[in-house]
Amino acid sequence: MYPAPSVNWLVVMIPETLEKIADFKPNTPLLKLDDSWLEPYDISLYIKRDDLIDNIISGNKFRKLKYSLSQYESSNYAGIVSFGGPWSNHLHALASLAKLYKIPLVTIIRGEKPPVLSDMLSDIIEAGAEVHYVSRVDYKDCRDALERGNLKQHSLIKQWKNYLVIPEGGATNNALAGVAEILTENDQVFDAIYLACGTATTLAGLSIGLPNNSVTKIIGIAALKAGNSLEHSVQRLLKENGVLTSEQKNWVIDHQFHFGGFAKVKPELLEFMKGLFERTQLITEPVYTGKTLYALYHHIEEGYFTPGSQIMMLHSGGLQGLRGYKDMGINEMINKSMTLGVTS
Ligand SMILES: Cc1ncc(COP(=O)(O)O)c(C=O)c1O
Repeated sequence: MYPAPSVNWLVVMIPETLEKIADFKPNTPLLKLDDSWLEPYDISLYIKRDDLIDNIISGNKFRKLKYSLSQYESSNYAGIVSFGGPWSNHLHALASLAKLYKIPLVTIIRGEKPPVLSDMLSDIIEAGAEVHYVSRVDYKDCRDALERGNLKQHSLIKQWKNYLVIPEGGATNNALAGVAEILTENDQVFDAIYLACGTATTLAGLSIGLPNNSVTKIIGIAALKAGNSLEHSVQRLLKENGVLTSEQKNWVIDHQFHFGGFAKVKPELLEFMKGLFERTQLITEPVYTGKTLYALYHHIEEGYFTPGSQIMMLHSGGLQGLRGYKDMGINEMINKSMTLGVTS
């Protein structure tokens, strides 16, 4: 099981009862990164440390789920059903929240049951969630049903009557308001905000969180080969939240840094993460935050930003996923991430 948080961890603030969840705003630190690599470029890089919310319910997970949980609390649901792959940070965080709030949770896992359970699946089962493996074809079928708006009637789902359905990655309309709160926590104005995109829900939330007249550009880094589906998702989410994308085109998604696809890595990515960790002690993981910072550093090197620019990068957590990258040259960082939550 992933280590329990220490008493110093911000988790001590996560409300113990569900009624209080909507009012809980983590207000995580915004820390200037002291990295000698940045000095010649005269760029100030601030990391919004949402990874410090909790070691499991970390980063954008809490932000994306809080209003869905508040909806669960104020309605008469019998439980929650949600989706993800065998290394899903979303399901890992949701299982931890469901355990905390004693919510029956059903997880639908993409693909056959693996011969050896991933660390994440073991944790999810240990947290008390029900786990159902479905073929990739059936999983895609569910995804398509969700897009058509009739997932609840799907043969794989309909047995969980009166359950709140939360799609893969926590990509709900509710998520946007939770994510937008990140920006109300700082009064600093940035030239750019960088973040990772999986479903791009977090990007959509930040987009609505910025004031209309803001000069800040949100730059999402696609963590997977997504074609233009991420752009379509953002446009759909913004529209569903009453925002015209023509009015709110404060964002762009860069698709050049997926390193071959979702959760794929290359030696130069791992080298970059290792170097960054050695210089600054900042822990990233290769699926999302490592790729995002790699892209940002590449953009800085390419001269995208003028000297004096101020940039924020959202550390969206996910460090529990590092356990899938053992013995690839980043063990020191993995070991450090594993000790972070342990009470000394
Ligand atoms: C650690 C981490 N960062 C970023 C993301 C991407 O977030 P989104 O799916 O909202 O684009 C995810 C996935 O939810 C994640 O687990």
